Amino acid sequence: MPTKPKSPYLPFGDQQTAPWYGKNILSVKQFNRADLEYIFSVAHEMRVMVERIGTFDLLKGKILANLFYEPSTRTFASFMAAMQRLGGAVIPISEVRYSSVAKGESLPDTVRTLAAYADVIVLRHPEVGAAALAAQFAGKPVINAGDGVGEHPTQALLDVFTVKEELGRLDNLTVTMLGDLKYGRTVHSLARLLTRFDNIKLNYVSPELLRMPREVMEEVAEKGIPQKEYTVLDEVLPVTDVLYVTRVQRERFDNLEEYEKVKDAYVITPKTLEKAKQKMIVMHPLPRVNEIDMEVDKDPRAAYFRQMEYGLYVRMALLAMVLGKA
Ligand code: CP
Repeated sequence: MPTKPKSPYLPFGDQQTAPWYGKNILSVKQFNRADLEYIFSVAHEMRVMVERIGTFDLLKGKILANLFYEPSTRTFASFMAAMQRLGGAVIPISEVRYSSVAKGESLPDTVRTLAAYADVIVLRHPEVGAAALAAQFAGKPVINAGDGVGEHPTQALLDVFTVKEELGRLDNLTVTMLGDLKYGRTVHSLARLLTRFDNIKLNYVSPELLRMPREVMEEVAEKGIPQKEYTVLDEVLPVTDVLYVTRVQRERFDNLEEYEKVKDAYVITPKTLEKAKQKMIVMHPLPRVNEIDMEVDKDPRAAYFRQMEYGLYVRMALLAMVLGKA
């Protein structure tokens, strides 16, 4: 009979001395390359453990408060699954209208309350800076699961982990981001995070209305990363290693007429990919609407559903780290 593998994390017993113990995860700006390599090594081990034994008791007795003020499928469910696969429990709040938020309770008071019951708080909120505000009041680790058009750091971490697992390297890459680069917070975090690696080239393909924000481009430029903007994908697709497609974010538009003008600006089809390298990947944070034809799903280069799964392993790693078990 096969023996049950031992968790590589249990020997790190003294949680107070673990380097990430009690830390917040608010922005990709807080991670250097060594941090990323560490997170990805823990995430890879989590993948191995899930594939071999499914669930294990690393975080038994710990409680996660999963507090979402905006809709989510993947982030909400993968944080829940991550905690449960590590043997912990979850307070799920995905409908804040059924919580005391509906009575006018402030974010600081809601966070103080949940911190009294839980060991870690995951927060998605429509306002930029909400996770940083929550962290001031929680006294427990807060993980930013998306703050308006600001950042989505755990998505960026899982995106980079996907590239590592799929292409086997994080240096010497041409990454092309396509679609809504203005409102798509995942590309803001991803562009910043990719500056930690060597010989990265970034291409931004978008309608004029949805260009990458200047402040993100300036931050990336300060790190010496070459960036070019395009309106046509064909110009850069043949040299692209990672094509990162995004949804046009209807919910962020003040003027829906403008949304109608740009919503179908780019649609990836099997014909589009005829011009792409054989060894490249197509990523998307999901959900998709029309921007990738379902026929593309059959192409082995379509990595977006595998990418979604990698999110589970990265979020398991982050929970274990901030709770002092990795
Ligand atoms: N990628 C992502 O954040 O998906 P959800 O909105 O479903 O969480």
